[in-house]
Amino acid sequence: MSAFLSQVEAVAPSEGFRESANVRNHQLYEYAGKNRIAFWEGCAQTLHWYKKWHTVMDWNPPFSSWFDGGRLNACYNCLDRHIGTKIENKVAFFWESEEGASREITYKDLYQEVNRLANVLKSFGVKKGDCVAIYMPLVPEAVASMLACARIGAVHTVVFGGFSSEALRSRILDANAKVLITADGSVRKGKLLALKDTADPAIEGLTCIEKVLVIQKEKNSVSMKEGRDFFYHNELEKAEEYCPCEEMESEDTLFILYTSGTTGKPKGIVHSTAGYLVGAAITTKLVFDVKPNDVYWCSADVGWITGHTYVAYGPLANGMTQVMYDGSVDKPKKDRVFEIIEKYKVNIFYTAPTAIRLFMKWGEDTFKHRDLSSLRLLGSVGEPLNPEAWHWYYKHVGSEKCPIVDTWWQTETGSIMITSLPGLMDMKPGSVVKPLPGIEAKVLDDYGNESKSGYIAIMSPWPSMLRGVHGDTRRFVQTYWNKWGGRYYFPGDSATMDEDGYFWVAGRVDDTLNVSAHRIGTMEVESALIEHEAVAESAVVGIPDEITGQAIAAFVILKEGREPSQELADSLKAIVVKKIGGIARPKKIFFTQDVPKTRSGKIMRRLLQDLAVGRKLGDTTTLENENLMKSIESKIENSP
Ligand code: WT7
Repeated sequence: MSAFLSQVEAVAPSEGFRESANVRNHQLYEYAGKNRIAFWEGCAQTLHWYKKWHTVMDWNPPFSSWFDGGRLNACYNCLDRHIGTKIENKVAFFWESEEGASREITYKDLYQEVNRLANVLKSFGVKKGDCVAIYMPLVPEAVASMLACARIGAVHTVVFGGFSSEALRSRILDANAKVLITADGSVRKGKLLALKDTADPAIEGLTCIEKVLVIQKEKNSVSMKEGRDFFYHNELEKAEEYCPCEEMESEDTLFILYTSGTTGKPKGIVHSTAGYLVGAAITTKLVFDVKPNDVYWCSADVGWITGHTYVAYGPLANGMTQVMYDGSVDKPKKDRVFEIIEKYKVNIFYTAPTAIRLFMKWGEDTFKHRDLSSLRLLGSVGEPLNPEAWHWYYKHVGSEKCPIVDTWWQTETGSIMITSLPGLMDMKPGSVVKPLPGIEAKVLDDYGNESKSGYIAIMSPWPSMLRGVHGDTRRFVQTYWNKWGGRYYFPGDSATMDEDGYFWVAGRVDDTLNVSAHRIGTMEVESALIEHEAVAESAVVGIPDEITGQAIAAFVILKEGREPSQELADSLKAIVVKKIGGIARPKKIFFTQDVPKTRSGKIMRRLLQDLAVGRKLGDTTTLENENLMKSIESKIENSP
């Protein structure tokens, strides 16, 4: 495999890009390689601090702390720092809705909004360390809400607007959120996504939520509970215009963000203030080759880590101008994304492979009338970008002049870990290239030895690493640190390394799926299915999908007396949407009488995957009942 990979032809960044790139030599890598701690200390010095740290890093495996003794505020670093400078009147967000409404928000506007909002939160009784849940469409107010929390030292937990009521409720409960900020709704694919209506049952009877702040975006009617629910604009109008920033300790929690794992319950990933912000700020600057007049567009929703690091904190700390689009990629037409790139003269475009593959499927003719000449750099994140899609993106979107940064990282790593610095290194289509300066990553085998093929391992702590799983230290240790005896961080990805030291990510090795660059646990979907009254047992696997990377297939064993039918398959899909959200909707339901298990009772997902895609069966020797596969095989052929 690795011999094959090194034969993939490398693509050099265009001369035009190389000549004006911010990083043009390898000194940074050499310096950070020899002086990792000093490198990170230098990065921290680019932020504003109330008080300097006394210790750069403390490592008590698997717990690290960074910049101890230091004090700072993340909101100050994203906003206040720019006020009184040229950036104050610069546009922070060009916002555009699906229906074509647009707004321009300058750094000054955002600063004013965040100050008032912070005062509103305070008036609701939110104090340093309290948690605020944010369940919003992709609007500047979502970012303002995150920053307002950071300003007063509250911890935010953003829940993606596509998650269901039950998913929102479990996150609010786990984080013990005191206030919820939401919106009346948003238009997606021409339909109203009624967030407040979904949030109402989510918080029904919860004692932790004291107040709800509602942004009126679509002006649809929502029910407002007296004394609990308040309209955003009314409260902001009444609020004082300045709110001082809370001086936070470096290790104070900035936010919790939930992500899927191997059990049915999502993990609350905890990020610190200083380390996270240092990672976000420096990686944005280096990877996206930031120039003062750039227009940058990261298409991620703020409900995901990409939206936290590369829409909220990273770009704002760097005083960048961004595009924010709250809508689907084909409304009103399939050239929507390219229309926006043309309209705002976007220079840097960062998106997910699933979107790239969709554009590729639609074909370059759908946007050939659009002027994309402003583009300078392209990015990809969330799942492997297959070489075919890479070449298409490079040629038809980037006109063979824009380097592509394929960025590997995770909710847990906080910021980009493995990618290329775009003016410096050759790219190889399908490879995420090399660890960034300050990041020590390797490919290790099961025993912790370096290997050409194995798993990604992070060998030493980095500032933006997760600080824990909220309320579950055991799970933190078990998930990320057990693989190699607590020495190295285990991200859960398999990878190979070629002869040039380039990383090739194969995919996850735990029971999580990657659907449209969103991580979904197989157990989460299984626990949703099992709640259906007709279901006795289920086993969920990922199957390859041309557009979304993976899609969900569910094998379902029905209770005695229940018969498979199309209606039942539909109602099973519906229960998953209800429990988790539309992103987890199974593409296929297979009714079967049993699922293959090992003698120790573990579901053999590999075999089910083989069945689901009609592949020749893999190794069945550890199977409890070998004849079973034959019978399942014949059953699934007859499934609706
Ligand atoms: C998992 C993390 C990081 C933000 C989006 C997803 C996969 C991520 C790449 C890439 C191949 C990738 C990994 C990782 N992944 N980026 N460039 N190439 N795979 O965040 O939900 O925390 O998922 O996404 O498997 O572990 P996430």
